[in-house]
Amino acid sequence: MRLSDCHNFRDFRELARRRLPGPIFNYIDGAADDEVTYCRNTASFEACDLVPNILRGVENVDLSTTVMGQKLALPIYCSPTALQRLFHHQGERAVAAAASQYGTLFGVSSLGTVSLEELRRAYGTPQAYQFYFHKDRGLNRLMLERAKGAGVDVMMLTVDTITGGNRERDLRTGFSIPLRLSLPGLLQFALKPRWACNYLLHERFRLPQLDQHVDMGGGTISIGRYFTEMLDPTMNWDDVAEMVRFWNGQFCLKGVMSVADARRAADIGCTGIILSNHGGRQLDGSRSAFDQLAEIVDAVGDRIDVLMDGGVQRGTHVLKALSLGARAVGVGRYYLFPLAAAGQAGVERALSLMREEIERDMKLMGCTSVDQLSRDNLRFR
Ligand code: LAC
Repeated sequence: MRLSDCHNFRDFRELARRRLPGPIFNYIDGAADDEVTYCRNTASFEACDLVPNILRGVENVDLSTTVMGQKLALPIYCSPTALQRLFHHQGERAVAAAASQYGTLFGVSSLGTVSLEELRRAYGTPQAYQFYFHKDRGLNRLMLERAKGAGVDVMMLTVDTITGGNRERDLRTGFSIPLRLSLPGLLQFALKPRWACNYLLHERFRLPQLDQHVDMGGGTISIGRYFTEMLDPTMNWDDVAEMVRFWNGQFCLKGVMSVADARRAADIGCTGIILSNHGGRQLDGSRSAFDQLAEIVDAVGDRIDVLMDGGVQRGTHVLKALSLGARAVGVGRYYLFPLAAAGQAGVERALSLMREEIERDMKLMGCTSVDQLSRDNLRFR
């Protein structure tokens, strides 16, 4: 199986599964508890149907949208995800380059493996910085100042990781950073020598957003433990209101799910919210962002930009979310599997396929711009 054999999410996932050591594949692919929410995220798109219009002259389709002041050529963006250097030696550089080529936003994680400054300098496309709120308030202030200095366009505070999700696949493999694995986990690495050579022969794994401040070398830490031990469980609305004031720019909360919280985010001056359950990786049993979208758009859509992520695998999923009022839709695993499978070429192929799908589907829906999609185009069963 080669990159050119990949035509959709399932194909990319399969190629990544073949190329990655099991513990790394399972870190990306896995979710919390019984992974019910993870499955539900994609399934919820299938609970409604598109109702197309015809004979509207759809030769030219404009896929652009504006989100939190950023003009995007596509209504999808690359959500921030952690540890990309582990998946492919090009890591975040591959994702930023591909996002840039397709004119869309990419997010850099606090747990990113390339510095936000380097990415800002190298790529002109809008950049969001995913922020974890640490117990160390001084560190939080330094991180904000650094991001401001670098010229980050959108601050994206993750609010659904107040404690670590129960990722049982990671517990079984021993997945942690830096990599130190259980014996069965180690054996999985021996089975993927190509990945191992690439990993060992390229630049050392680092966490440049944090490694000045957090001792990641002294011992291994699982992602769950990082959340639980380093992040501040006392974080509250006052803390975030202060952050919003300090940032004084485009600021969104990632992981909002309730109408009350969406209203409060608008009240404290956020310019956007992202409905998200963290790809099903935190609270299993949480509702899908798509199912929750309409009521949140109704409540705050006229005050702030409402975005969503979770389970997006197809252009039609994007169209359904836009029809309910999302301004843009984030993808995570959708680009991570291609990254793992083939680096920048993989991410470019995934974005290219998604762009083609969205454009084709828009034509089939009888729409020439994303703002023409409305609830009239959807029926829930
Ligand atoms: C995760 C974090 C790091 O879901 O976002 O693994």
